[in-house]
Amino acid sequence: MEKNMEKKAELKLNGKVYEFPTFIGTKGEKAIDFSSLRKKTSYISYDPGFGSTGSCKSDITFINGEKGILSFRGISIEELAEHSSFLETAYLLIKGELPAEKELKRISSVCTENSLIHEDMLNFFGGFPPTAHPMLILSAMVASLNSYYCSLGQVELGSVEMDNVMFGVISKIRTISAFSYKKALGEPFVYPSGDRKYITNFLHMMFSSPIREYEPDPDIVRALEVLFIMHADHEQNCSTSTVRLVGSSLSNLFASIAAGINALWGRLHGGANQKVIEMLEMIKNDGGNTQKYIDMAKDKNNKFRLMGFGHRVYKNYDPRARIIKNLAHKILNRFSIDDPLMDIALELEEKALKDSYFKEKKLFPNVDFYSGLIYREIGFPTDMFPVLFAIARLPGWIAQWKEMRESSEFRIGRPRQIYTGRTSYHYKPLNKR
Ligand code: SDX
Repeated sequence: MEKNMEKKAELKLNGKVYEFPTFIGTKGEKAIDFSSLRKKTSYISYDPGFGSTGSCKSDITFINGEKGILSFRGISIEELAEHSSFLETAYLLIKGELPAEKELKRISSVCTENSLIHEDMLNFFGGFPPTAHPMLILSAMVASLNSYYCSLGQVELGSVEMDNVMFGVISKIRTISAFSYKKALGEPFVYPSGDRKYITNFLHMMFSSPIREYEPDPDIVRALEVLFIMHADHEQNCSTSTVRLVGSSLSNLFASIAAGINALWGRLHGGANQKVIEMLEMIKNDGGNTQKYIDMAKDKNNKFRLMGFGHRVYKNYDPRARIIKNLAHKILNRFSIDDPLMDIALELEEKALKDSYFKEKKLFPNVDFYSGLIYREIGFPTDMFPVLFAIARLPGWIAQWKEMRESSEFRIGRPRQIYTGRTSYHYKPLNKR
């Protein structure tokens, strides 16, 4: 407990004083435990959007939004970007420790052995129209995995079989994503190979074909791996909270992940990376007038928002955006690419960060602002960008789902509400309405 921190909070209400315990996290975040509020006072707390409400205690990810700090299991995002692999980071998030070499080899072979999806599932792709968004296909296919692969509903959370399920879906999500891309192209599916690592296997399934073998440049492979590490978890964001909530009803892992995919798809969340590129292209096609769009974003009467800017938690530069921005510069320079969209993005950032509107509201570039510029250079179509976010976020969703299920405070999530509708109303027969 912080030395001058009160052990209890007092609430004075209708002439009575109620006490509620306080507690502090390992990085100094403070909370008042209001779980007994309704029982003690008949009042509920009210916090639409949950800006001041904690849903759980977690050992997985720490964010200091004021300082722009992010760490996974205590390791800074900067160190992981520099030294880790995506599979290592996935293991760290799910198991709490970096894997020893033997463990990493085991998990890597679990991914290889589980990279195929049941052949009957290939028929599902034929049922989607060619215009189906890949996030729609992904959520439907992941939910369907439950009919082919035993989910955590049937295996013990701590068992080896659980590793096969968790790392199995981390492997299969690549295959489903790449197959949805091939379907959109009208090209034959390219199956995973047994001798490629996680990222190179995904790129192989995406960009190889019967007439050409895609061998990615090592810098492209590392860039995608760092992007995936950046996105691997982010504590109780909208999609992770969805996965936890769905999982709290004892729905199986695949159903919980499918719900998370659908929450992530929204343009205020993981769908923003696609919207950023569409916004930059719109500005480019409109003559590159960045100030016009800065002014539109500030105009209360205009629905336009600067996509890739602002964050519920970060009131400083998103540390992931800083890493991804540097990575974008590195890739564009490495391949001598002069991308007008990068120039527009840099100009937008420079102008916004000098503008009082953005400064006062503490709006900075977030993880989505520069990521699409790299995805585009690798060759991904923009509608695949949220899918890439989902592939990368899957280890975080699984880690958080597992932590929720194992928690001593586990219970089904069920928020309260305040009713503001009619106080009384009676049924009227059809001829009297
Ligand atoms: C992700 O939660 C996570 O951790 C998410 C994520 C993760 O890793 O899981 O980090 C990934 O989702 C990143 C965010 C991607 N979304 C976008 O880039 C969309 C654009 N950003 C905004 O829509 C907004 O900033 C949100 C949704 C990200 C945050 O919304 P909040 O916290 O509800 O903030 P708000 O809408 O209440 O905004 C506060 C003020 C408002 O002005 P006032 O009403 O107070 O006058 O800031 C303004 C907003 O109008 N504002 C913006 C703005 N973002 C906020 N104005 C212009 N452009 C913007 N982008």
